[in-house]
Amino acid sequence: MGERKKKLFIQTYGCQMNFRDSEVIASLMKKENCELTSCREEADIILFNTCCVREHADQRLYGTVSQLKRLKQRNPNLIIAVGGCLAEKDKELMTKKLPHVDVVFGTHAIYELPKLISEAVEKSRNGNSLPVLRVGGTRPIISQAEFGLRADGHRAWITVSEGCHHRCSFCIVPHVRGHERSKPVDLIMEEVRAAVDEGYPEICLLGQNINSYGRDLPERPTLVDLFEQCNEVDGLRRIRFATSNPMDMTDAILEGMAQVPKVCEYLHLPLQSGSDRILWEMRRGYKLERYREIITKGRSLMPDLCLSTDIIVGFPGETEEDYEATCEAVREIRFDGAYVFKYSNRPGTRAVELPDQIPQEIVEERHRLLLDLQKSISREVNARMLDREFDLMIEGKAKESGYLKGRTRNHKIAVFKPPHREDGPASSRYRVGSEIKARIVGLKDWTLLAELVPATVAGEARVA
Ligand code: 5AD
Repeated sequence: MGERKKKLFIQTYGCQMNFRDSEVIASLMKKENCELTSCREEADIILFNTCCVREHADQRLYGTVSQLKRLKQRNPNLIIAVGGCLAEKDKELMTKKLPHVDVVFGTHAIYELPKLISEAVEKSRNGNSLPVLRVGGTRPIISQAEFGLRADGHRAWITVSEGCHHRCSFCIVPHVRGHERSKPVDLIMEEVRAAVDEGYPEICLLGQNINSYGRDLPERPTLVDLFEQCNEVDGLRRIRFATSNPMDMTDAILEGMAQVPKVCEYLHLPLQSGSDRILWEMRRGYKLERYREIITKGRSLMPDLCLSTDIIVGFPGETEEDYEATCEAVREIRFDGAYVFKYSNRPGTRAVELPDQIPQEIVEERHRLLLDLQKSISREVNARMLDREFDLMIEGKAKESGYLKGRTRNHKIAVFKPPHREDGPASSRYRVGSEIKARIVGLKDWTLLAELVPATVAGEARVA
């Protein structure tokens, strides 16, 4: 009776899929009498959920975990677990590089974690310092409805498919996450309803390659079917999804986005390069012209569509002309935002074997210049939001004291000052997850400044 709760510290790196996996891990461990702590020093279990998409992520992880040796010496009962994509990639090598780690678990082993951790506890009690290693295999597809510990106050991440069936030549994801597997619709809907019942007004459907959702299931459901079913869930206000791949984008998906009311006007669509020659070397399966078609259609269906992208600079063989083609595409398309990455060699991928790796200083320069270009475009593009009214879903406090931040349907962050009241400003209208109407009145770098539209302040019925 009354055994002390163990304190669990989780550090997550990488993509939203990893963040969702960490929520699942936290939920599983809660059932094992664990509670989360944000203080590493007081933890009984320190867990890292890792990423290996670029080499920088590998180095950072090994550096951080190496530093924990001292903590472990001070507290021999401390359990350190390292898992996720890097563990899947490095396998035994990780246990050799980090001998003080107790559990190494791959992406497919997350549901086994409670068992793996108790094995490690048992081992350390018996003075056995060999790590517990569980990598490889394939994670079962199950409903995650019961894993309800979520990190965000307003948005529930719902994994709808895992893995990827493409073989882009730079990408390690299929090697560590496996082949694409979709979750049946009924399991997804069970999760969505559970999240909405718990008070989440927004969901984000997650898949490494979400546009091809369902093609491996017998009934062949599509992403649009998910949009439509989710749209029927009372209490749900906003539907988002990530990540799209131009290769699998269809007119039906764009039309679904435009027609299904709760699906938000935001699309993250990685371009990777503006040069057809590099796109071919990357094995992306589309040319710039196809990418143009998709966004032209998307923008014609959704005038407020916000478009973001990923771009890799310094891919092997990228000439000045190839790079200039990417810059030109960025100037032409005018993304709302772009994540620009320096190409990184990943073991086991095809690009590693390509000749003409680009010297680091050139990669650095291309990266810097492209980021600058995109920054100035982002600023200009944001001006189209000025002097217009939007619904903001409140996400929490802004950095500026006294301000709250909210997000428009098209994914822009705006900050605003809630009205001051004698009885405190925290009326339920301004709780995380509630929506208010606001007018965009200014721009400060990337952030939009908003003012409440009076009807909202007065507490009158909002216009939908
Ligand atoms: N090097 C650099 N960037 C990469 N990405 C994926 N693999 C690599 C790599 N080897 C980028 C892509 C992808 C994003 C998640 O990470 O742009 O869309």
